[in-house]
Amino acid sequence: MLNSIGLDNDGIDAFIAHHLPYLSRLRAPTIVSIAGRTYDEFVEMAGMLDGCDGAAALELNISCPNVSGGVDFGTDVEMCRRVVQGARDACGLPVLAKLTPNVADIGQMAAAAADGGADAISVINTLLGMSIDWRGQRPMLGNGLGGLSGPAIKPIALRAVYQVASAVDTPVVGIGGIANIDDVMEFLVAGAAAVQVGTANFYDPTVSVRLIDQLPAALAELGATCVRDAVGTLQMNDSVAAKT
Ligand SMILES: Cc1cc2nc3c(=O)[nH]c(=O)nc-3n(C[C@H](O)[C@H](O)[C@H](O)COP(=O)(O)O)c2cc1C
Repeated sequence: MLNSIGLDNDGIDAFIAHHLPYLSRLRAPTIVSIAGRTYDEFVEMAGMLDGCDGAAALELNISCPNVSGGVDFGTDVEMCRRVVQGARDACGLPVLAKLTPNVADIGQMAAAAADGGADAISVINTLLGMSIDWRGQRPMLGNGLGGLSGPAIKPIALRAVYQVASAVDTPVVGIGGIANIDDVMEFLVAGAAAVQVGTANFYDPTVSVRLIDQLPAALAELGATCVRDAVGTLQMNDSVAAKT
């Protein structure tokens, strides 16, 4: 999928007043994703969610490619560390930092987020992509560029999870092209302690329920009794490990 939705939402006041109450009645914990244009906006929103009933954790989207300036926090090591620390100080909830793959060294960004106090690192957000109507000589998306997601990005996401898990001790949340239980297991073995499913929900809204049902049997195939037993069990060929 290639999208340029941006961050369509009705704002944090409306989220806290109208959306969080019904979300908090669901059985699953709610992780609230926030994105600010500036450091101050991130910190202000993190502070507003501190102690909010129904919010289990905070994910900092420092990686959206569709928002003007939205990606800076995820591409500059010092800005990344600072914004994570600011949110961390303003909010007692666990803080996840969601990173962009559109950088040269994602391990370095993860280290900065961990240094800022991130409790977990989510990887990856979408990759910058483009689609062109050559006859009309115009981009297909209104925004020109867009975020690429879905199965096409899975190898990149797996690589990023592996690199981040190798670079930091902080738990990693794997995201990118997950659509079936084999995908989930690949991410766990690569080093993810949890996964998220995005694009697959658009064509199969019940996908997550099926993945949860299938997880115990897949773990058993590895001789694992819980997710933790499978996380980061990838064994790289010695000669390959030396080069990466
Ligand atoms: C339509 C659409 C909207 C998205 N909106 C957000 C967003 O608001 N915040 C965010 O952090 N990521 C957003 N993402 C990125 C996804 O959360 C995810 O990181 C990415 O799509 C890769 O996972 P997937 O291949 O399972 O979709 C969006 C993705 C799609 C396809």
